[in-house]
Formats: sequence, structure tokens, C-alpha cells
Amino acid sequence: MPIVTSTELFKKAYDGGYAIGAFNINNMEIVQGITDAAAELKSPVILQASQGARKYANSVYLVKLVEAASELHPEVPIVLHLDHGADYETCKDCVDNGFTSVMIDASSKPFEENVATSKKVAEYAHAHGVVVEAELGTLSGIEDAVSVEADKAMYTDPDQVEEFVKKTGVDSLAIAIGTSHGAYKFKPGTKPQLRLDILAEVARRLPGFPIVLHGSSSVPQEYVQIINANGGKLVDAIGVPEDQLRQAASGAVCKINIDSDLRLGMTAGIRKHFIDHPDHFDPRQYLGDGRANVKAIVAHKIKDVLGSDNKI
Ligand code: G3H
Ligand code: 13P
Ligand code: ZN
Repeated sequence: MPIVTSTELFKKAYDGGYAIGAFNINNMEIVQGITDAAAELKSPVILQASQGARKYANSVYLVKLVEAASELHPEVPIVLHLDHGADYETCKDCVDNGFTSVMIDASSKPFEENVATSKKVAEYAHAHGVVVEAELGTLSGIEDAVSVEADKAMYTDPDQVEEFVKKTGVDSLAIAIGTSHGAYKFKPGTKPQLRLDILAEVARRLPGFPIVLHGSSSVPQEYVQIINANGGKLVDAIGVPEDQLRQAASGAVCKINIDSDLRLGMTAGIRKHFIDHPDHFDPRQYLGDGRANVKAIVAHKIKDVLGSDNKI
């Protein structure tokens, strides 16, 4: 199967009450770990490259790696997505060079500017058979909100979503309901709680429309512990509870973004390998352990969080 767009996958996910995992890729081992798990569990999957990933690996390598994965697993629908495209030019470059989906992230701009930029990207992408995700609201880290008012202002305002989608013509919408990027999402000692009420209100305003959640790593403590037991120092790393993601996936959320958990798995595998085998210096040995962890984490997400197994 060639690399596909997410249009049909999202329709089925919406109707079937599950979500598709969007996993960040930076190198070959990560692509392999993710797609091997998806193939074993018969799950569609989204492989996404951030601008940082494209700079690190060179976008050409990433596109070719994803094409290789698609050739090796022809039965798996794979979407190649640009994560957090900062401007029209970046999105255009991806549309022109093998991506089937792009995100334009103008969420930090005023509403009208976000609308104008997202609309421009959607027009170009659609003319070339590529789908578009945009974002409304601000994903923040634990220290970003300085007051209750500021905290409230970061969430997506359900009053804006219909106008935004109508004016831009985008295919999916990322919203802010309390998730954030990275491994430190909530203050220690507080109870992590997503604003599922905002999600429900957005879904009510946009019936049948695919919603996206960024910042959805759960920061599995078993991997944090392996890292810390093997020379690492990750203090108070806290993620999104998986049951809340499962609940979101059963409704309007069709795409759930996960990067940090894969970073933890890769790092735990490599750190442990170095401590267990101080005599090893073959990258295939330690990267192999990192890749195995990536595969195990993705398999767990597909089965126990996203519910996208056996959907091919
Ligand atoms: O959205 C953030 C993703 O985790 C990508 O991170 O920009 O460091 O590649 P990055
Ligand atoms: P995490 O940092 O929670 O994995 O989020 C990744 C993400 O949203 C990529 O766009
Ligand atoms: Zn993101």
C-alpha cells in the first residue's frame, strides 16, 4: 500500500471509537520499532516528523525510511505527517516532497492570522491531495500558567472552533485541553486531569470532525525508573493518565500524538545496555535494545490506549 492520507482512517476511527497513534520519528530504529508493532497488531499508524527531526536527519532520509517501512509492511496504512509546521513554506515543502499530511501550527498567532495561514496551507495542500491539521489554543507546560485566568486562556475556546474550521477548510483540529509537550506535564502532588468537558463541547460543535491531541505521552514510570537506575536523572516526570486518553479516543479524538514516551523507551534501552555491558561498543547492540523498547511501547499504546489494533 502506498503512503496514504488520514481521511479514510479518521472516518473509520471516529465511527469505531478509537484513535490512530501519531508517533514522532527521528531515525531508522524509531521508524522500525513503530511500524513493526503496527504490523504485528494490524493497526494503521501515523509517522510524524517535526521540523527538528527534518533538520536532524534530513527530510529526504525520513521520507525514504517511511517509504521503506511501507514497502516492508504493505498491508499497513501509513500516513507521513509534518508535525508542527511553523509556516506556509515548510508545509509546502513537505506537500511537494512525499508527505501525505501536514500540520500548520499558527496557534500562537492571533485568531485571524491563524485562520489566514491555515487556510492558505489547506488550499495548497488540498490541490495536491494532501490533508491538513491546524491548531487552536495553547499547549502549555506546568510552569506556563501564572494565574487561573491565564490558565483558562490557554484552553481551546469551543466558541471559536466552528468558525475556524469553516473559514480554513482544514481536515482536523488540534485542541488544547490540558496536555503539554515533554515529560513534565503536571505539577508533582497534583492530580493530572484533562478538560474532557471542553473536548465534549468541541465535539458537539463539530459533529463527525476529527480532533487531535498533542502532548499525549503518559511518561511510563517503569522506563523513568530504568533510566534513573542506570545513571539518568529525571525528577518528577509526569504524563497524561492513559485512561483519560482512552476515553478521548473513544469519542471525537482520532489522532493522538506521542513522542516523549518513545524517547524514554529508547533512552532506557540504551542506558541499561551500557551499564549491563560496559564492554560493548557496537551501536547495533544498544540501539537494538532501544528499538525493542520503542516497539513494546507502541504495541501497548495500540492495544491498551488507542484501541486501533485489528483495524486493517
Ligand atoms: O511537538 C513536539 C515533538 O515532541 C517534537 O519535538 O521538535 O524536539 O522534534 P522536537
Ligand atoms: P509528547 O511530548 O507528550 O510525546 O507529545 C508529542 C507531540 O505532541 C508531538 O507533536
Ligand atoms: Zn505536538
